[in-house]
Amino acid sequence: MTAAPEAITTRPATSADMPAISGLSARVFGPGRFVRTAYRVREGTPDVSAFCRVAVLGDRLVAAIRMTEIAIGGRGGALLLGPLAVDPDFANQGHGRRLIAESIAAAREHGRELVLLVGDMPYYGRLGFSPVPKGQIQMPGPVDLARLLALELQTAAIERFRGGVAAAAAPNEEAPRS
Ligand SMILES: CC(C)(COP(=O)(O)OP(=O)(O)OC[C@H]1O[C@@H](n2cnc3c(N)ncnc32)[C@H](O)[C@@H]1OP(=O)(O)O)[C@@H](O)C(=O)NCCC(=O)NCCS
Repeated sequence: MTAAPEAITTRPATSADMPAISGLSARVFGPGRFVRTAYRVREGTPDVSAFCRVAVLGDRLVAAIRMTEIAIGGRGGALLLGPLAVDPDFANQGHGRRLIAESIAAAREHGRELVLLVGDMPYYGRLGFSPVPKGQIQMPGPVDLARLLALELQTAAIERFRGGVAAAAAPNEEAPRS
């Protein structure tokens, strides 16, 4: 009898995953990734927040999503999504979408109000994201405004967030680790 193929599973990321996550990001985004504006926000923040997740096949990293706690105009309760990286060998199999959905569900459950990202509207629009109204939110560097997208986790949350984006400490609460 042959063994059943191992399944790809997801779980919260830990700091032990960081070398593999960094390696995957390097492979997928290349050396230019460090000059991206979203990287500036994350500089100096903890590697792993409560909402970072990975998809793994045994001990092989298949996909990873990072979420960084941010404040917008000094108001906390928002997250910056990214990078999201999927190993090209496993692309278009739903792993990106699954990690986004799981991470966002945990963020909503833990009272976060908004998820912000810089990314492709054709991909993230299908997941509920829409462009931030022009001029409402500023990143600390140049961003193509058509790619600055947000998802409200609470009704009309976008109206409560105006101003500049900066990394922030996580609100004082017990973090999800399941
Ligand atoms: C983009 C990425 C995160 C998608 O993850 P994935 O697990 O491969 O994709 P999913 O299985 O979740 O979704 C697949 C669907 O999204 C579509 N898709 C993938 N990338 C897309 C993009 N950049 N724009 C629009 N649609 C895209 C696929 O065509 C597919 O469509 P279908 O369901 O109609 O067949 C992944 O391919 C990746 O890491 N790419 C390189 C890094 C990158 O460009 N990241 C930036 C994301 S903005």
